[in-house]
Amino acid sequence: MQLKKKTPFSPKKLLFVILDGVGYTPKGPEFGNAIAGANLPFLNKLWKESPTILLKAHGTAVGMPSDEDMGNSEVGHNVLGCGRIFDQGAKLVNNSIAKGLLFEGKAWKEIIENTKTKNSTLHLIGLFSDGNVHAHIDHTKSLIEAAVKEKVPRIRLHILLDGRDVSEKSALEYLNPFEEWLTTFRSKGADIKIASGGGRMTITMDRYEADWSMVERGWKIHVHGEGRTFPDAKTAIETFRKEDPAVIDQYLPSFVVEESGKPLGKILSGDSVVFTNFRGDRAIEISQAFTQKNFDKFDRGNFPEVCYAGMMQYDGDLQLPERFLVSPPAIDRTLGEYMAKSGIGQYALSETQKYGHVTFFWNGNRSGKFDSKSEEYKEIPSDVIPFDQTPEMKAQAITAELEKVLGENHSDFYRINFPNGDMVGHTGNYKATVEAMEFLDGCMARLAEACKKNNVVLLVSADHGNADEMYQLDKKGNLEKDKEGKPVPKTSHTLNPVPFSVLDPESKIKLRTDLQDPGLANVAATILDIMGYETPEGYHPSLLAK
Ligand code: 3PG
Ligand code: CO
Repeated sequence: MQLKKKTPFSPKKLLFVILDGVGYTPKGPEFGNAIAGANLPFLNKLWKESPTILLKAHGTAVGMPSDEDMGNSEVGHNVLGCGRIFDQGAKLVNNSIAKGLLFEGKAWKEIIENTKTKNSTLHLIGLFSDGNVHAHIDHTKSLIEAAVKEKVPRIRLHILLDGRDVSEKSALEYLNPFEEWLTTFRSKGADIKIASGGGRMTITMDRYEADWSMVERGWKIHVHGEGRTFPDAKTAIETFRKEDPAVIDQYLPSFVVEESGKPLGKILSGDSVVFTNFRGDRAIEISQAFTQKNFDKFDRGNFPEVCYAGMMQYDGDLQLPERFLVSPPAIDRTLGEYMAKSGIGQYALSETQKYGHVTFFWNGNRSGKFDSKSEEYKEIPSDVIPFDQTPEMKAQAITAELEKVLGENHSDFYRINFPNGDMVGHTGNYKATVEAMEFLDGCMARLAEACKKNNVVLLVSADHGNADEMYQLDKKGNLEKDKEGKPVPKTSHTLNPVPFSVLDPESKIKLRTDLQDPGLANVAATILDIMGYETPEGYHPSLLAK
């Protein structure tokens, strides 16, 4: 598996900067476009004067079920790193459910059998929304329907409130109809109840080991039923909102539902547990806690031996978890693997929050390197703090590290991710996101300078939008306003395209404009084209004009 050199072969070094969550819309700051609202001397000049085109970064261009689906970092980095579009988790689970395959599979049968033979409980834990980034509530509903048909003795739900892939205070919009939907099953005698829950940034869904205490809190709530108790989930949410009207769903405290003075859904030995998220990054740690014998991240207390399955396998190399309901996309022949096998030196860098994006997701959901000699990965620890309090995040440290590394000149291909546009964007704080962008602009100017000095071509793009739309817009594109007439903050990603720019120290590179629908899948071949290599078979074409 070697890359073919172009003839004549004139190799170039390249830095690819992913400005996470920096999309493009012609709408101005009055619509919540924090990029247009920021003072960005470097980036605005780059987008205006250097070859720049817009790339599609959502929906079918990144393997999602439809163009109603926004992009996200998993699918975005997957596509960027493999130059092709694979059906992604959201779509694979849909198909598997629609064709009935999920329910015919061994994993589901084991989950069900386990509860029937032991007269035990089926627990479903997962993100409770239709955001379709990590999970979809319809998948959970399909599992419930099938489990009821199978007459499992009892079902307990542990719901992670979203407000990050969907609007920021929408928890009850999911909960109320869901409870209504459950009544039909209950009236036929099924024993289904919500047992625990909390905001997704408070419990359970940590990623890249940024903050294990989140997972520990989730463990206590879901498994041991230890936490503040309420008669039901709705009362819990309403109480939290009353106590802190500013709190948004992703940060809601956790709760345990109690009946006759006892938690009604502790997880006990002999139970079955399905984690209903399909995306891996925020599902790996809790899956480890449920399945690993030698687990030392926190004290699990009285550990329940359960029959555990993930909606998908979250890490194929670690085989985590061993039991899963739907197979993940088999992303092969990634750019990283081609480069490793062709002797091209690679360097990947980000801070913790996006470190796995430029390694694990970039390499087609593969943990570890292809070749430890030619690859270097560097992680700068992220702060554990809401990022609107530190909009600069670790951008300064990333920039300084890269300046140093570019000067040393060891690698051929450098890739980095600046999380700011996305992570600050997810807080819904417009002002902080503007600050994040302005800080990034200074960092980018420094990196451009370092590239020029070391004769490295600079590519700048993004994986999806976020900072470009910090206010909620209705279907017609008009601002949504709250009762006081203020714009409603938007915490989720957008459907907008992303700019893709080239800064070539020799000013020779031009981008083609004749491609019908260029998207993130065109980037991998473009990187290779600039570096002096032919497009691998099946990759979407390069964006360079010949
Ligand atoms: C998150 O996990 O933070 C969001 O759901 C998605 O953000 P990302 O796709 O940019 O990581
Ligand atoms: Co994001």
